[in-house]
Amino acid sequence: MAVNSRSLIRSGTELNKSVTIIQGIRTVDSLYSGYGTGKKRQESPRSYSDGNNTLPEATQSNNNLKVIKRKIPLIDLPVEVESLQDLEETTGYDTVKKDTNKVLNDISQTKSVSKQSMRTLSSMITNQIEVTHSSKILSLINALAPVDEYLQRHCINVSMLNGLFGQWLGLSKVDIYNLVLVGLLHDCGKALIPSKILQAPRKLTSSEYEIMKMHSLHSYELLTDFSETIRRGARHHHESINGAGYPDCIMDFDISLFARISSISDVYDAMVSQRSYKKALSPFHALDVIEKCRKKTLDNVLVEIFFMNMFRELKNKPVVMSDGIVGIMRDFDYKDPKYPTVEVHGKIIKSNEEWYCESMYIED
Ligand SMILES: [Fe+2]
Ligand SMILES: [Fe+2]
Repeated sequence: MAVNSRSLIRSGTELNKSVTIIQGIRTVDSLYSGYGTGKKRQESPRSYSDGNNTLPEATQSNNNLKVIKRKIPLIDLPVEVESLQDLEETTGYDTVKKDTNKVLNDISQTKSVSKQSMRTLSSMITNQIEVTHSSKILSLINALAPVDEYLQRHCINVSMLNGLFGQWLGLSKVDIYNLVLVGLLHDCGKALIPSKILQAPRKLTSSEYEIMKMHSLHSYELLTDFSETIRRGARHHHESINGAGYPDCIMDFDISLFARISSISDVYDAMVSQRSYKKALSPFHALDVIEKCRKKTLDNVLVEIFFMNMFRELKNKPVVMSDGIVGIMRDFDYKDPKYPTVEVHGKIIKSNEEWYCESMYIED
């Protein structure tokens, strides 16, 4: 791989990089309380899925959010690293983002989905995935992005992950296009959910949660102009393999392949994104959540394929550790992906509860 001289971080020099850390919110990590404190974390028994607000929630006011800049010690990173802005420009993500935002606004106002707009968007994304290296797409998805862009980014990210999944499975271009379309449309029903529920920076009440759960049915109802394959992909993206999902409580192969793939993409993107009520998890922590969901809620075989490919994509990539040091991810155990093995200053170290991977490294 060509070394980007702008991104080659020199060793032995002063600290001059920074990373944005959000503090003051009851984050997912703080729910697991224990990072750097010597205390053992407690695993949450909740299911992890986007859109149903079963993510660990914030209990403090967002007024407590505090953004700090942390200095990152410099080390040699003989890998190419781009900024989020560069990645968005070179992959066409910025254009797709604007168009997706417009389509989502149109859905909110007209209570209908323009088939032509969605087809155009799906074609753009499908073509982009075909010509863009998958590691670039994953860098985009794994990057810390503004909370207020969450819905359009989530739709695009799930569609891109779906597209990559289609490539990994060797599906035809038509199937990949349709998978991308399901990713774009899976949460379109959220346009019918009241914004005070959709954007609540706190745990939803049980009645609010029941309203939120209606979004997958709303998606199905909004997509009357689309094929049943697309509609069912959207309707069933919160179903579980064990039948404990919603809205139809179907299980195993009664859930379509497109819906089973979208469920994994959905959970992964929800985990690595920051929201008003939670901070972003590292990809390794997200994979750990998915590992715990496999066989119960997610398709075991598809999760295996996801892990295999994610491992290949994340291996040898720079990561920001909890002490601010940037290292290179060298290895992780599929059964314990949360604590990868990281190379720092030539030393190979297994991360742990005290020294863990906070995020992927990306240029400011
Ligand atoms: Fe979603
Ligand atoms: Fe959803």
